[in-house]
Amino acid sequence: MTKGAASRSLAAELVGRIVRDGAYSNVVLRSATSKLSPPDRALVYADVYAVLRRRDAIDELIAGVSGRSVADIDPDLLDRLRVGVVELKVHNTPPHAAVDSIVGGVDNRGRRGFVNAVLRKLVGAAELPPPRLPDWIRSVLETDWGTVDAFEAASLADAPLAVRLRPGAPEVGNAVEGIAPARIIEDAATAGDLVRKGEATIADPASTAVGMAVEAAPGERILDMAAAPGGKTIHLRDAMEGTGLLVAADVHHRRLVSAARRVEDPWISWLLVDGTRPAFKPGSFDRVLLDAPCTGLGTLRRRPEIMHRIEPRSIDDLAKLQSRLLDAAIDLVRPGGRVVYSVCTVTAAETTGIVGPRGGRAPAGLPGADLGSGLMLRPDTTGTDGMFISVIDR
Ligand SMILES: C[S@@+](CC[C@H](N)C(=O)[O-])C[C@H]1O[C@@H](n2cnc3c(N)ncnc32)[C@H](O)[C@@H]1O
Repeated sequence: MTKGAASRSLAAELVGRIVRDGAYSNVVLRSATSKLSPPDRALVYADVYAVLRRRDAIDELIAGVSGRSVADIDPDLLDRLRVGVVELKVHNTPPHAAVDSIVGGVDNRGRRGFVNAVLRKLVGAAELPPPRLPDWIRSVLETDWGTVDAFEAASLADAPLAVRLRPGAPEVGNAVEGIAPARIIEDAATAGDLVRKGEATIADPASTAVGMAVEAAPGERILDMAAAPGGKTIHLRDAMEGTGLLVAADVHHRRLVSAARRVEDPWISWLLVDGTRPAFKPGSFDRVLLDAPCTGLGTLRRRPEIMHRIEPRSIDDLAKLQSRLLDAAIDLVRPGGRVVYSVCTVTAAETTGIVGPRGGRAPAGLPGADLGSGLMLRPDTTGTDGMFISVIDR
């Protein structure tokens, strides 16, 4: 198999794992491409993200040209055709090279013939429309914020590679205004080196802003109430300089165990806790971070598949859980302490709707739009993931 065919085959395989098996694109892309050369890795990322961002339009095109519903096409071949469509229609690869690189990865003559025939018809087919959010999500966001076009365009585009520099790390990369430890790193190798040496963690600047909003200090008692996979836990640990008490809790055992293994710091207390019924006395902590489960619409740049996984009732279901978790979090903070509520999403129901009635305010000194009860960062305004951060003072 040629190099081009191998990377297209890998892209198609990853599309299958994400679309059918429920894997997360940012996770499988990182692990499956870690040994590839930078150009090959870039090709796989570009193919997979382009498929996920325009999946409905791509499938419509394939169905129209092949005369079959996509449900009737062998899943492996369908994924290869999807990658073929983005090669032809998004990346504008010359038709013969695009067709050869897809057909070259197919194992049997009959199957090769089918893929070849469909791709050749696709060469002359209509162009693809720009990536679009599902209609129901557009309509929720239009109702919430008035406009959705800029958010949609920025959310269905590439995100830069970003890290949080840990204390004492060299000042590498491009600074992000207002989020001091966040850096944009040009190449994956530099970021990988920083992470290996323990000098940085991979984190979008919006996530770094959440850690900053907590203002954790050495010697305090802090609860990270929904901690897995532990990204913000490490930030809190760094701010506390390893002194005081840091409890990292989560309700999902497997996620908690793998977070504890990944973070590997014996000083942190990892606890399996249902945050809606925590077994701590009221007022036990100086600060509680509730980085709550949410629809994740702020992270579409790196996980576009989320837009097809959530449904209208997800927003209401999650808002109910978020309210219960936040009430419990407020109860656990001592008078004079602080709760920080954050969600990597932008719906009103999960953001202002949760903290408005509970006296939230925007944290000071961070970029984003002050919505009264909290701060909103968005790909189209701050160039970061979408994140809502609110401080509740007790
Ligand atoms: C947005 S993620 C947290 C990300 C994490 N703070 C980080 O920065 O890496 C939300 C987490 O909430 C957890 N969760 C969901 N329901 C929960 C509950 N009732 N109590 C505690 N954690 C819960 C999920 O398992 C998930 O790990």
